Amino acid sequence: MAEEAAKATDHVETFKQLILAKLRYAVGKDPGNAFDHDWFEAVALAARDHLVDHWEDASLQVDRQDQKRVYYLSLEFLIGRLLVDNLSNLGLLDTAREALSQLGVDFEQIRDMEPDAALGNGGLGRLAACFMESMASLNIAAHGYGIRYEHGLFRQVVVDGWQQEHTETWLDFGNPWEFERPEVSYRIGFGGSVANLAGSGEVPRHEWLPNEQIRAIAYDTPVVGWRHSSVNTLRLWRARAEEDLKLERFNAGDHFGAVADVVKAESISRVLYPADSTEAGQELRLRQEFFFVSASLQDLIARHLELNLDIHSLPDRVAIQLNDTHPAIAVAELMRLLVDVYRLEWFEAWKLTVATLSYTNHTLLPEALESWPVSLMERLLPRHMQIIYLINAYHIDSLRAKEIHDFELLRSISLIDEDNGRRVRMGNLAFLGSHSINGVSSLHTNLMRKSVFSDFHRLYPERINNKTNGVTFRRWLYQSNPQLTELLVGAVGDELLDNPEATLRKLEPFAAKASFRKQFAAQRQHAKRELAELVRERMGISLDTQAIFDVQVKRIHEYKRQLLNLLHTVALYQAMRNDPATDWAPRVKIFAGKAAASYHQAKLIIKLANDISRTINVDPTLRGLLKVVFIPNYNVSLAEVIIPAADLSEQISTAGLEASGTSNMKFALNGALTIGTLDGANVEMSEQIGRENMFIFGMTAQQVAARSRRDLNMSAEVAASERLAGALEAIRSGVFSPDDPGRYVGLIDGLLAHDRFLVCADFQAYWDAQRKVDMLWRTPDRWWQAAVLNTARTGWFSSDRTIREYAKDIWKVGGIGD
Ligand code: GLC
Repeated sequence: MAEEAAKATDHVETFKQLILAKLRYAVGKDPGNAFDHDWFEAVALAARDHLVDHWEDASLQVDRQDQKRVYYLSLEFLIGRLLVDNLSNLGLLDTAREALSQLGVDFEQIRDMEPDAALGNGGLGRLAACFMESMASLNIAAHGYGIRYEHGLFRQVVVDGWQQEHTETWLDFGNPWEFERPEVSYRIGFGGSVANLAGSGEVPRHEWLPNEQIRAIAYDTPVVGWRHSSVNTLRLWRARAEEDLKLERFNAGDHFGAVADVVKAESISRVLYPADSTEAGQELRLRQEFFFVSASLQDLIARHLELNLDIHSLPDRVAIQLNDTHPAIAVAELMRLLVDVYRLEWFEAWKLTVATLSYTNHTLLPEALESWPVSLMERLLPRHMQIIYLINAYHIDSLRAKEIHDFELLRSISLIDEDNGRRVRMGNLAFLGSHSINGVSSLHTNLMRKSVFSDFHRLYPERINNKTNGVTFRRWLYQSNPQLTELLVGAVGDELLDNPEATLRKLEPFAAKASFRKQFAAQRQHAKRELAELVRERMGISLDTQAIFDVQVKRIHEYKRQLLNLLHTVALYQAMRNDPATDWAPRVKIFAGKAAASYHQAKLIIKLANDISRTINVDPTLRGLLKVVFIPNYNVSLAEVIIPAADLSEQISTAGLEASGTSNMKFALNGALTIGTLDGANVEMSEQIGRENMFIFGMTAQQVAARSRRDLNMSAEVAASERLAGALEAIRSGVFSPDDPGRYVGLIDGLLAHDRFLVCADFQAYWDAQRKVDMLWRTPDRWWQAAVLNTARTGWFSSDRTIREYAKDIWKVGGIGD
């Protein structure tokens, strides 16, 4: 023991010296004149030194063992902050805390200096970040590939209740985690023409002659696994012009024209998700997709060949996962590289392509399935368009050869949509070019088989498979909720940290122990106080931490039905005012989330939440029973504070429309109870956790489909429910918008006439479920028993489990040393 304590002291002293050296020699400050941000940078750089040592070891091991590598291509990585993640996985968190405290620096304060890396929109991007961490923790040799956006997801500012988008500037103070690799750079072409190089009678050979070339420069960020099991690389590409300045033009006085190419080239990695409501925006988006796909494929092939491996062995050593259709152009680009550059015969190239690529689908919403106008593709990527036509023609030939002549079927699986002005269907391209297509929850995968890909599924029944999403417990339990983690470890032992999937189950008997439930509730109180403090500081609103914290945080989208939650809020408000004699359970309704900049309806819903909040929060007749807050600028760091503090998790999407959801898992892991529809992964959660420990309500996906086939006019539903009618009327008539009474007339009338997301149809069931929430809250023994069981039974939703399934079924890889 004494020896261990001495070792720990040694570590602290060494780390302290390292921090001081970084502060002096890398940041250029000394303790006397360092700001918080300087300290943050010094600690991050000190941690990075440790990362680098392990990084070197990991990549040498992969080379030696000839391991197959996984390449995860994703246009989004929603990483958030990395300091605690890295220190914690390196086992240095306590060391760093102690070292800083000896230096008189508050760790929590400098932790907050790190900007969020918000290189993603929501669930899809955060999933990619969880997967990177899990792959490193499971010793799988993996690279993430994406774009190093100069500006991540916009910063949301709420002004007078309206969302405003401001540029996000995460790189303003540099990024201590990344390494610029100017020597790793590839040429990316656009436009131009295709030369036919073969003489008559020879095998056709083509060469793409782009008329525009830009450069992709690599930036590497090490990703360390739990207990530094291994360190992988996230390689993000930055776009640069071939030449920084056209000197001749500059000297001729055309100072802007001299840098026009630079501006054009660099706009590719300027912002995450440029608005695609304009043609220029669409083109930029396609450029981004091709840019990062081409750079990544060139890079991974170069690595493969450097290891003296033959191009033919690509699928034996390389597995490429396409995260959604955004990288689907990889099918055509890999074919181009194999056929035009490496001179493989077409069918051989096709075999390698399909064997190497796999594709994850994240949504069935028709508006979210990408397609590109043929004319745009022809202009920007002429050789790829030829290749897509050829893939399509050979495919249709092969089906005809099997006596499949069904015209409708051939039309539906075609890569070209002839009905909507000729467009390339990227989902179909990704399907055809991949040996595995997976959905992200069991329900979603089944619906995929029945809807978007039903015809493909008939032809290739073995290709579609399910991989239910998961989340990394390191970030979403140990780091975001250290107090609860300590309590759990105290109950079931240290093993929890290394093997949470199995160990969490051991918590089940503790649900029956009153003393444990009390401690569990006390941890929640602690987290609620922290959130209340944040809300007070940022918004000047005080919250009653004894009330139910009822939380819906996620992107604002009609199918996620924040509107249903708001209607319940208004109905509850009216009921509380009308029936003061009822013993209402006090509630705090918490909302947060961003709306896409051009999504007007979603922005109006944000305004409505704020209008409702403004009215309700000052109504003295409520006696503080109900508060509503919309916390601006939802991001990963905010989620880390909100999720541990939630009593109730709102997962209320229209059944059949949320592919999986992942915040649902994070909330349950932290012991919140879910009110939700049988949608996405809620279905599997209810199987694991038990329906009796959740509040499941509303139509099933099947009922939704049937109801939608009838009509979407809701007059009958509204007439049947006085409560719903009252809430709708209050919003419509301007009770919450006296400054502009007509503000919500269109919103409410639209809902009545055509309720695409069945908000009104599910209202009564939702109201009833919410009353069950109140009832359970009043019997704390039962509430906290269910809460403990939620935590105990969420182990299966670890992203380690998900990644193991990908590794075994799709990638066919093991971990180092397996
Ligand atoms: C998308 C889906 C969401 C899913 C996530 C990760 O964001 O909308 O349901 O959880 O992708 O697969």
